[in-house]
Amino acid sequence: MDRILIRGGKTLNGKIQISGAKNAALTLMPCAILTDEPLTLRNLPRLADVDSFGHLLNEFGVSTMTEGTRPDEFGRVMTLRANRITSTTAPYDIVRKMRASILVLGPLLARRGTATVSLPGGCAIGNRPIDLHLKALEAFGAEIEIASGYVKASAPGGKLPGGKYSFPVVSVGATENALMAAVLSSGVCTLENAAREPEIVDLCNCLVAMGADIEGIGSETLIVHGKMRLHGATYAVMPDRIEAGSYACAAAITGGEVELVGARASEMTATLAALDEAGIHISEGRRSVSIKANGALKPLTLSTAPYPGLATDMQAQLMAMLCVAEGASVLTETIFENRYMHVPELARMGADITVTGRSAVVRGVRQLNGAPVMATDLRASMSLIIAGLAAQGETQVNRVYHLDRGYERLEEKLSAVGADIERVGDG
Ligand code: UD1
Repeated sequence: MDRILIRGGKTLNGKIQISGAKNAALTLMPCAILTDEPLTLRNLPRLADVDSFGHLLNEFGVSTMTEGTRPDEFGRVMTLRANRITSTTAPYDIVRKMRASILVLGPLLARRGTATVSLPGGCAIGNRPIDLHLKALEAFGAEIEIASGYVKASAPGGKLPGGKYSFPVVSVGATENALMAAVLSSGVCTLENAAREPEIVDLCNCLVAMGADIEGIGSETLIVHGKMRLHGATYAVMPDRIEAGSYACAAAITGGEVELVGARASEMTATLAALDEAGIHISEGRRSVSIKANGALKPLTLSTAPYPGLATDMQAQLMAMLCVAEGASVLTETIFENRYMHVPELARMGADITVTGRSAVVRGVRQLNGAPVMATDLRASMSLIIAGLAAQGETQVNRVYHLDRGYERLEEKLSAVGADIERVGDG
């Protein structure tokens, strides 16, 4: 299995191209199910999860054709076509490996009036139930049955009649599933307390490009007037705000200066506010965000929250950065109950972190030290890369497949700005 080796202490300087957003890509790809015409997605990141999602869609008879941009370029173009849906079942073997598979439930139900999807089960960062996905679909008129580890949703008469659902807590995934189910309903579907993440806006914009009628895009109330059919479209995936935030933390911890090309400051407000408070200089270009370290890092008090709050997907990376701040920081994770798996690994590198319930106190240390480490999820793995870039000596990050799920050509991007980083195989 591959590992990443980092010899820390190099200052990062230069430009980093930001890829298309993983979390947007995985909700845009299932939109292809909603029409028999082609959906062409541009700026798709080259990631293991995108490939896996393509294979899942192939199971339903959706064809996926990737046009290679040159191997030295980032991103790619994929044309997906669900000319005919040949199966409406998402099997356990695929769903268990990729939670985002649950996002086929809404569109399959909308297009074919029925969908059977394996329950995703637990995962490394917590319980992650799907009850809100099912309740929203039920409110729109779906009948839901759960048997033998599978959810079967069906629309009586083949079309969802519409209805209203108010989320008790904000859920990104459930908002996405409900939206994709709603666009082909025979009535009006209203979602209250819907997620407002930029990836939801991206999904809405793509659905509108396919002919959907959605009011309130970007707000917590979404009103969808169902259409008889949607048509094909060409749509460019938004830039990855989490990837950009991760590289911002990497630049900051090394005392460097990087330009995040393609990043949109307006979608990163909470992360940039945190970096600003830590003493980092931020400037916004026409199509980029620049980060410049400015002396010692200041400690922060941060809490994750649904958008426009601080993304739970940035918690681990900010924590890594704060391990070397001048003083004690407090981080509170409000979205997932078990998202501190990086803490013991950071501690192995010399970090001083105490977790009590949902909060972590990070007392800044002068220097982190390289060590062999591994993490059990994507963002936790990135936090170890960030710590390794600043650590003295060599850090070996194992279980690289987590990083390959979410960071396009990580080591290439980091070495181009001066990091001493390489991927090594077993052999
Ligand atoms: C969440 C994050 C998203 C991040 C992704 C991957 C939020 C609001 N969502 O999205 O930013 O990119 O993880 O790390 O920050 N919940 C239920 N029942 C459900 C669905 C969710 O109780 O049916 C709960 C979850 O346990 C969690 C909260 O609602 O506490 C938000 O979950 P949700 O937004 O659905 O998770 P993801 O879509 O995976």
